Amino acid sequence: MNQSLIEEITSGLKSVTPSISPKFFYDDIGSHLFEAITFLEEYYPTRVEKSIMKMHESQIASAVGTCDVLLDLGAGNCAKASELFNSINPKEYLALDISKDFLELAIVDLKKRFPHIQMSAQVCDLAQPLSFPDLAGKKKTFFYPGSSIGNFTPDQVSIFFENIASICNGSGGFLIGVDLVKDSDVLQRAYDDSLGITAAFNLNVLKHVNRIIGSDFDVLDWEHYAVFNQEQSRIEMHLRAKRDLVVTWPSHSQSQSINFKAGEMIHTENSYKYTKASFSDLLIKAGFDDVRVWTDPQELFMVCYAKA
Ligand SMILES: C[S@@+](CC[C@H](N)C(=O)[O-])C[C@H]1O[C@@H](n2cnc3c(N)ncnc32)[C@H](O)[C@@H]1O
Repeated sequence: MNQSLIEEITSGLKSVTPSISPKFFYDDIGSHLFEAITFLEEYYPTRVEKSIMKMHESQIASAVGTCDVLLDLGAGNCAKASELFNSINPKEYLALDISKDFLELAIVDLKKRFPHIQMSAQVCDLAQPLSFPDLAGKKKTFFYPGSSIGNFTPDQVSIFFENIASICNGSGGFLIGVDLVKDSDVLQRAYDDSLGITAAFNLNVLKHVNRIIGSDFDVLDWEHYAVFNQEQSRIEMHLRAKRDLVVTWPSHSQSQSINFKAGEMIHTENSYKYTKASFSDLLIKAGFDDVRVWTDPQELFMVCYAKA
């Protein structure tokens, strides 16, 4: 097992505010559970983002212009990128994701549907700096849908955007889907649905962590908790201990453990919500230019294209 992942997880668990990075949601079951979430009535982001992209398809395509390579960040099932293929017409498609098996399966299917596009899949961690030396000189369009950018803090977003802008090196650009600030009840329902699919998605992270570090988390001891933090403009997801308990895992010669009291929580996700202006500012400050913004009539969600 990857030692750096073990260290990342155990140091998060042992910190003053215990946490697990949201990237650990996405084992194979987690990726399927996320796909199920996108069908929920309460989970508006996928539905609304798709509708914005459909409604403004030709404007988006003319803003993007020619595209040598479409790089799909956190591609998941690649469905959203595939809906852009006919209008953007990329020569190459590179799908990047942390969830290896799920991504590779999606690409197999896509290659059959779009045999004229050269396609590949790359497993990566978007929290690490990105570099694509093999694509030097090609006009790149980065695509980051699903408001996954909300998992980064605003400071991390700036570093991430600067990295993308420098890879673009003055050509191409960044097409990105962003969730907007809205009524907190709507947000709360989107992250705590009535069927409990988001709860299962959140709890499944413990099973994934058990496989990576060998811990003995029992999902039955934990419950899903989602809240909108107004001050930070973010939805937070946590797992809350239902009783006093001890979690242990092996480490070198002896085992390690943490005690949780009933009600104590592990922070598993932040999903920052932006205004059109605050998000455009972040893109401009990172070196992008000419930010175009499309929203739905209720302004629940926005899609931006920023030129490099
Ligand atoms: C919210 S889902 C969005 C999926 C898809 N792009 C969509 O819009 O429906 C987030 C995706 O990013 C991937 N992901 C999460 N954290 C990641 C990381 N640190 N590095 C690479 N991929 C990551 C997940 O596996 C998942 O496919």
